[in-house]
Amino acid sequence: LAVIRGEVTGCTKCAELAAGRTQTVFGVGNPEARLVFFGEAPGADEDASGVPFVGRAGQLLTKIIEACTLSRDDVYIMNVLKCRPPGNRTPLPDEVANCRPFFERQLAAINPEFICCLGASAARALLQTEETIGKLRGRWFTHGSATVLCTYHPSYLLRNPAAKRDVWEDMKLLMERMGITL
Ligand code: URA
Repeated sequence: LAVIRGEVTGCTKCAELAAGRTQTVFGVGNPEARLVFFGEAPGADEDASGVPFVGRAGQLLTKIIEACTLSRDDVYIMNVLKCRPPGNRTPLPDEVANCRPFFERQLAAINPEFICCLGASAARALLQTEETIGKLRGRWFTHGSATVLCTYHPSYLLRNPAAKRDVWEDMKLLMERMGITL
């Protein structure tokens, strides 16, 4: 992970993102985690701190993790893109392609049993599908040796609190499959 992190720090493959970033945002948590939360890309707070999911959406993700009786230190948290897109726009296909070797190697190094994709960008990037998150959520997929579950992104929950019920149903499924009693 340290080797990959170093390569990410020096990456300039996406000229626009490299020029606009304060710093790259690699990942945080337990490098031997059973569960990885996989998000989209850093926002302003993450670009400023260098840590994924520390802004408002991140605080909600922390609450979700804690509702699962886990802590941020038990899991590993990372994004598809390691640089903040301007204005938090959705990652472009070329940007996902440029970052793919990084996130694939990062996942291979951690070798988690479970990956939880947060939102359509993460789900589509990992599973290489164009399916909507509404269709992908709550179902089981595989990525290498990992079992994958997709759910809504915490930022979506901030705009649409009614969807929190669905995310909680997804988390209960995931915890049951992980053998964690809630
Ligand atoms: N949203 C994401 O997808 N990732 C972050 O790190 C923060 C917000």
